Amino acid sequence: MSFNVAIDGPAGAGKSTIAKKIAKQMGYIYIDTGAMYRAMALYFIQNGINAEESDKISTKCKEADITIQYQEGEQIVLLNGKNVNGLIRTEEVGKMASVSSVNKDVREKLVDLQQKLAATANVIMDGRDIGTCVLPNADVKIYLTASSYIRAKRRYEELMSKGERVEFDMIEKDIIERDHRDMTRELSPLKQAEDAILVDSSNMGIDEVVQKIISLCK
Ligand code: DC
Repeated sequence: MSFNVAIDGPAGAGKSTIAKKIAKQMGYIYIDTGAMYRAMALYFIQNGINAEESDKISTKCKEADITIQYQEGEQIVLLNGKNVNGLIRTEEVGKMASVSSVNKDVREKLVDLQQKLAATANVIMDGRDIGTCVLPNADVKIYLTASSYIRAKRRYEELMSKGERVEFDMIEKDIIERDHRDMTRELSPLKQAEDAILVDSSNMGIDEVVQKIISLCK
């Protein structure tokens, strides 16, 4: 039997940074499900599909073959055989991922892939619906959150350090909009599973959160 850890929470709560560290320390495989929704969103953008065209999204998602591989412990997302890691971390793709992930056909396809991956190995998987829908029997479930102000501040500092000129208010507005969309959509919205442990990282350092979750896994 594989050991499964589910981490859900809103954008910018630190899920991927924390899950990667836990994976390394515990020897689990880290699965970033947001990257799969982003790769699918990239495919829609590349094909000139816009967010309102739900019929086209349903049809086109069938043509997008999403698979993952690992290179030196890093997850590589392949879209129709091509490594797209370098293309999916933009605000445009993130927004399209949030919008297109409301689509039933997109979700069914990616949830199936995620469940197959988790059945074969000890994994720590992060996303929005892992504890509630993808892995309802996960051994440990965490709902990781932080205030929208703190999450926007972290994102702002990250972008500024990369030399991007951005406005704090715009970042915070985008985060609030994304939360609203992810939490109010009809299919598997972001919410804390009944048996998930709430961790608020607003006033916690990364290593403090990592240690807390590792102690729960042990
Ligand atoms: O975690 P992220 O920012 O990379 O995710 C991008 C979008 O993908 C997010 O706004 C909603 C969607 N998503 C989802 O619906 N379900 C998941 N398990 C992961 C992401």
